[in-house]
Amino acid sequence: MGNVLTDEKIPNNVNLSGDKRLQRALEEWQPHFIDWWKQMGPLGWQERDIYLRTAVSVETDGWAHFDHVKMPDYRWGIFLEPKKEGRTHGFGDFYGQPVWDEVPGEFRNLMKRLIVTQGDTEPASVEQQRDLGATAPSLYDLRNLFQVNVEEGRHLWAMVYLLHTYFGRDGREEAEELLARRSGDADKPRILGAFNEPTSHWLSFYMFTMFTDRDGKYQLSALAESGFDPLARTCRFMLTEEAHHMFVGESGVQRVLKRSCELMKETDGDPRSAGGIDLATVQKYANLWFTLSLDLFGGEVSSNAADAFAAGIKGRYKEDRYDEHKLVGSHFAMDVLEGGKVVHKDVPMRNALNEVLRTEYIKDCQRGVDRWNKTIKDEGIDFEIKLPSHKFHRQIGMWSGSQFTPDGEMIDAATFAARRGEWLPTDADEAYIKSLMKPVYERGKMANWVAPPAKGINGLPEDFEYVRL
Ligand SMILES: [Fe+2]
Ligand SMILES: [Fe+2]
Repeated sequence: MGNVLTDEKIPNNVNLSGDKRLQRALEEWQPHFIDWWKQMGPLGWQERDIYLRTAVSVETDGWAHFDHVKMPDYRWGIFLEPKKEGRTHGFGDFYGQPVWDEVPGEFRNLMKRLIVTQGDTEPASVEQQRDLGATAPSLYDLRNLFQVNVEEGRHLWAMVYLLHTYFGRDGREEAEELLARRSGDADKPRILGAFNEPTSHWLSFYMFTMFTDRDGKYQLSALAESGFDPLARTCRFMLTEEAHHMFVGESGVQRVLKRSCELMKETDGDPRSAGGIDLATVQKYANLWFTLSLDLFGGEVSSNAADAFAAGIKGRYKEDRYDEHKLVGSHFAMDVLEGGKVVHKDVPMRNALNEVLRTEYIKDCQRGVDRWNKTIKDEGIDFEIKLPSHKFHRQIGMWSGSQFTPDGEMIDAATFAARRGEWLPTDADEAYIKSLMKPVYERGKMANWVAPPAKGINGLPEDFEYVRL
């Protein structure tokens, strides 16, 4: 398929018109999706022309088409990486056997739960971010927000395609439920914790796309290894889009840090006095979103993780890098909590796979933080952002019942409560950050608390009309 927008109702490279029943089912779901988008998507911007990229194929040299488009008219499509003939299971009990094009009955529920859980995060993030357009620091940022939003919508399509195609009536019901849950709703919340937290201002948005979208990268990478071939192929292409989301987050925080440093120099070290954000507060938001995102990897010792690996459904990050792919009899050395004490211990590898993936994720986060610290250093400021210990501020897993400092030292609950405001955003911090959030909709202008980007989108100048007012 070439670099063209098709005139089919649902753009796709899966020969949808060759399966009339499936095509009809998805065409019935489409208006429900659009209703959800209009109801829960970006508030107040649906009728504006936004400069967006749209996936039109999976070819590396031309998969995206850039143009101004109204968001409800965005061409959400279904794109899978091409099938590799002769592909075999890359890990688990079926290692070396041909991959599956259908879901084996015995793994149906496990597979469906993984797909629904991944799928649920996509619309959830759109809901979390729906008010941010009212306070965008620039048209450039506003456009990036909407780009992330429409692509999360397409990721929902990617998962709904699998549900409709391979899971029959159950799958269709799950696809409806994905449009019925609401982020933060008391009765019908989204499935995972971090996707029910409000993203109430742009500092949190940048942190979310830095840390929480990066969790998405690692989950998708693990599913991209799957022996269920359609799942692997759809996740591979989602990763292509996901890279931009993490760019928005990492470069967004980096621009905040740069501006904070500039204002520190202008004000004798007090950027708040000049309407900026102090570095200590940036650190607190990093602590918050990093730890919320760590929770998304699940329990440290997990029989579900072991089952999904054994079944060949969910592998490790870049499984190719490893020599051994069955993991029977191997171990992972990790910290665990035993009798109220932290001990370092060998855990059977298959049960430790959530922690293995989380460890890879932490390394990737650290690389981004190192680039932030280089920015601070280049500005001549003596300060470093530090990722807190993986034990700090956890709500899920074995560390969630105890309290730790950001350095990983165990403390009692009273000490944590007393010191919490040093480590995590307080109500006052939140109120202060929100007080800075005034929209800047003039071409080429930027809010005072964040530096301009190094360059524009798609080779265009920074003052391009990314959103037409
Ligand atoms: Fe996504
Ligand atoms: Fe994303």
